[in-house]
Amino acid sequence: MSNVQPLVAGNWKMNGLKSSASELKTLVDKLNAEPVSGVDVMICPPATLLLAFSALVEGSKVKLGAQDCHTEASGAHTGDLSAEMLADSGAVAVILGHSERRADHGELDRHVRAKAEAAWRAGLMAIICVGETEGQRKAGVTLDVVRRQLKNAIPDGATAANTVIAYEPVWAIGTGLVPTAEDVKQVHGVIRDELAARFGDEGRGMRIQYGGSVKPGNAKELMSIDNVNGALVGGASLKAEDFLGIIAAYKS
Ligand code: 13P
Repeated sequence: MSNVQPLVAGNWKMNGLKSSASELKTLVDKLNAEPVSGVDVMICPPATLLLAFSALVEGSKVKLGAQDCHTEASGAHTGDLSAEMLADSGAVAVILGHSERRADHGELDRHVRAKAEAAWRAGLMAIICVGETEGQRKAGVTLDVVRRQLKNAIPDGATAANTVIAYEPVWAIGTGLVPTAEDVKQVHGVIRDELAARFGDEGRGMRIQYGGSVKPGNAKELMSIDNVNGALVGGASLKAEDFLGIIAAYKS
């Protein structure tokens, strides 16, 4: 979809201290000095850094996202953070249903769906992650898994503005393994068909990111595949130079 503005987002996961502000500052300064148009850029640091980082990105191209939220706006939920709190700290988006949260915290599609509704309530864009495990791919059920996740994790009312889908094959995360271009094309095509069937024009305009071992060296090829509208980047987003190398896939 040529009229879909791609989104390259960095998921810092459980990495980063106050001192990591220097990487963000390098990213902001370089993008200010050499603007890249036609692509949106986001960093999703740990929630502890959102407030400090929001001052650093002010007036720049870089937007901030969070990595999870609770379903309720406030209340007796020790250790949890609401979408409202994340928005208050400077986030404009939140990653939901990442495979690491599904594996570490038993998150199911219905939880992801409720969290996406909470994100919208707080004015955040939901970045909803889907993707098959290695076993599921080997069993030949990738498309069934992704279709089921899309159906159950995306609430009614999703629009191109309030929702981004991230296709992240679990076996490609942090492994250096990447699916073939043909496989990425097939899964992204199926995701597009599902989104269009359910949400019409909004579904046709929704960003579908690819995630899993995206690096400066493979970004251009991955980002040029049909229906790949940006990337959700883990390890390579921690260093400004690497992340800039991925954003550069969109330089003409
Ligand atoms: P890597 O880029 O480190 O493989 O991580 C991908 C990811 O999980 C982004 O959410």
